[in-house]
Amino acid sequence: MEYTDKVLEHFNNPRNIGTIEDANIVVRAGDPSCGDGLLIFLKIADDRIIDYKYKVFGCGAAIATSSIASELAMGRTLDQVLAISPAVIANALDGLPNNKMHCSNLASSALCTAIMHYRAKLEEEAATPPSSPEHSEVNNDTP
Ligand code: FES
Repeated sequence: MEYTDKVLEHFNNPRNIGTIEDANIVVRAGDPSCGDGLLIFLKIADDRIIDYKYKVFGCGAAIATSSIASELAMGRTLDQVLAISPAVIANALDGLPNNKMHCSNLASSALCTAIMHYRAKLEEEAATPPSSPEHSEVNNDTP
């Protein structure tokens, strides 16, 4: 199987490339077998991805799958994003050659890791008691 028109289109015009200064989560994913890597930046609000940028270093399929994944995830709830599997990404590109199917793992695993880290961060923040004036140390040694 050759690359589909959609793969070539996303490879030639990748969407949403860049970084987010105030991202909630930044995650790197890599494929040790080929050395390709993806760095994603997510801005999340109300359990939804409101901005998504990435930098990708890799093959044509890595670029195309990263691009389509950003479109699939943008504006979606975190549970919807967790359902963006490598197969969903490949299907959204009208398929990938068999020897390039593994390239769709990059974005899928980066998104899954990012959401796990984000949720863990939220739980950690919820478990941390807020500081209150009653419990603050005050120096009353003023003469
Ligand atoms: Fe490494 Fe495509 S060959 S992600």
